[in-house]
Amino acid sequence: MPEFMELFENRNELPFLTKPFNKEELVKIVADFLKTKIELLSESYAPISADRFLIFKEMPVQAFMKMTGLGKYLPVFNKGAEVHEEDFRKYIDKGIQYLFIKKEEYEEFIKVSNENLGLKLGVEASDSDEGKNKLEEQVFLQFHSIEGIHRALRDLGIKETTIELADRFYKTILVNLKKSPKMASILGKLVTKKNYLYQLGILTSYLSVAILEKTELNNNENSERLVTASICQDISLDNEDLAKIVNIEDQTFKDLPFDTKEEVMTHPIRSAQLLIDQGVFSSETANIIREHHERPDGSGFPRNLDSSNLGELSCIFIIAHHFSHRLLTEPLSADTLGSINSELKEQFSQGNFEKAYEGFVNSFKS
Ligand SMILES: [Fe+2]
Repeated sequence: MPEFMELFENRNELPFLTKPFNKEELVKIVADFLKTKIELLSESYAPISADRFLIFKEMPVQAFMKMTGLGKYLPVFNKGAEVHEEDFRKYIDKGIQYLFIKKEEYEEFIKVSNENLGLKLGVEASDSDEGKNKLEEQVFLQFHSIEGIHRALRDLGIKETTIELADRFYKTILVNLKKSPKMASILGKLVTKKNYLYQLGILTSYLSVAILEKTELNNNENSERLVTASICQDISLDNEDLAKIVNIEDQTFKDLPFDTKEEVMTHPIRSAQLLIDQGVFSSETANIIREHHERPDGSGFPRNLDSSNLGELSCIFIIAHHFSHRLLTEPLSADTLGSINSELKEQFSQGNFEKAYEGFVNSFKS
């Protein structure tokens, strides 16, 4: 295996075994040899998906490979070493999903990783053409799995601890929701389809918790409300194309038959009612769902509320929802991120949205 070649660079060190030998003798001699070569620690390493290294030209930290079955870590790239995409492709092509770094270097890794991505939403990302190309070529946010969403959020600059927190809420609440038979059947369909509705539910959950964390409203009850609303916002719709309509001025909406238009317009109220009918959800949660398509300038639906009369939790939710929707429906590029960023700043930062917007900006600061 070529990745072990560096172990054998100094041939004088190699142990010697005479034929015929048995399995035990061979294993012992290899184990003794490796012991002197490999760091023994285990718990202190963090797995990093191998493709996350593709962006580096120089290693920000030392990286290791896990020796399956041995629980040991073999150093494969040194800190500061010059690296090329092919160096990592080699591992990925062999099906090696993760490289490992020392946990104490994790923060440094994330910091340099974010700088390299130029992806801190906004200015840096859209500044240079080189940065732009790099971003479009190499950052592919994969939203089809929870792991992909985690990675995407980390790449966007959301703190690991926030993602873990949101993840715990998301999982617990999903389990609780499924305890009601009616919800179980609706959510069961949603989760197995892994489509826009499912991805929107997860992304909105994580982002709204991340924003909430940076506001004075931060507490467990509110996290629960936001996550429940994220998962249940569109449960009264079974067509994901209808859930994607966020602007009733769009031609897609205008072209719909009258009944379907009604279905779109009323789904926030119907989803909220479905939740109320279960009898176990708070009125705050239902209210967030009722208001999830309202917009700060009053152009939303169904009630044309605006930034002077929307609830504070709704404002957090609407920002998270809008951001998630755009991430899921547009090609991810520096331009898209720049445009989302300036749109939120111009349109989602006044009145009752002020604190939510501040929280949003702060949740992307490392
Ligand atoms: Fe919706």
